[in-house]
Amino acid sequence: MLQSILKVLRCPHCGNQLTLQEAEVSTAINSTLKTLVCSCGKTYAIKNGVLDLRLPMSDTMKSTRLWDEYDEEMGAEQYDELISWLFNLFFAEELKIRKLLVEKLELKTDSYVLEVSCGTGSNLPLIAEKVHAPGKIFALDISPTMIYFAQQKTKSKNITPNKITFVLGNALNLPFTDSTFDAVLHFGGINSISDKRKMLHEMVRVTKPQGKVVICDEGVAPWLQNSSYGMEAARINSLFKSLPPLSELPETAYDVKCSWISSAAFYLIEFYRGVKVPQLNKTLRLPRSDLTLEDFLGKETK
Ligand SMILES: C[S@@+](CC[C@H](N)C(=O)[O-])C[C@H]1O[C@@H](n2cnc3c(N)ncnc32)[C@H](O)[C@@H]1O
Repeated sequence: MLQSILKVLRCPHCGNQLTLQEAEVSTAINSTLKTLVCSCGKTYAIKNGVLDLRLPMSDTMKSTRLWDEYDEEMGAEQYDELISWLFNLFFAEELKIRKLLVEKLELKTDSYVLEVSCGTGSNLPLIAEKVHAPGKIFALDISPTMIYFAQQKTKSKNITPNKITFVLGNALNLPFTDSTFDAVLHFGGINSISDKRKMLHEMVRVTKPQGKVVICDEGVAPWLQNSSYGMEAARINSLFKSLPPLSELPETAYDVKCSWISSAAFYLIEFYRGVKVPQLNKTLRLPRSDLTLEDFLGKETK
């Protein structure tokens, strides 16, 4: 199983491919210690089925939200309660919203899909309903506690253990090779990431050309931000003042749609990864002129 996913993994330190190393450990119960190794010298542990592809904190970008925040400040159990409460606050049904997000991924049964910042894994059972071998599901989060709860959640839903690969990693430096996934989902973390551009570029880098990216987070729609509704929401949680980070999308994003869901309290961005950046037809002649657009633009910049 691990061998079959090696080709999509890359070292978060240098970007090289990883290899699997197995060593016999002689303890009371003889077992095999599996690690992922890179030619740059970095090694990454595999523990309880989770691939730990985080770099040490000293190597990690400062803009990263620390996993300690989620591990210590808010337990994963509390998180599930809080998120349901938050949806109820806006008269929204959590399951319905999650189904909508998964629907937007346009999954096929053999899709390769990645959830970035999977948290306690509430979207994973919905994704697992749609994707089957040879399709693959990867769930990444920076917090070991969140990943542990996500594993437990999928187990409790009788999802076969090998169906989802759990990865500890950083959304700002995804440990996956370029153009791997047909669909990439992120819900509920980007507002707190200071380098949103980097995160979005990473999500697009690992998406296949024509693949789909779906992002959703708190943010009352702009036309409601100064209403009493918007201001009250922002008093409950200042993240509701967030605006969708559209200006940070890579130039190759196309068919970009942005909408507001759950009583217009969450923005939803969906787009495809293109291969080309948009261009002007510079060979076109200007109306009633011998000049081409290329001549004209050249003149303007001189
Ligand atoms: C609000 S929770 C969202 C959880 C989940 N996506 C859901 O649908 O409920 C945000 C998650 O982002 C994770 N996170 C924060 N910073 C991260 C980073 N730099 N890389 C990956 N995950 C991160 C947290 O550990 C947490 O699980």
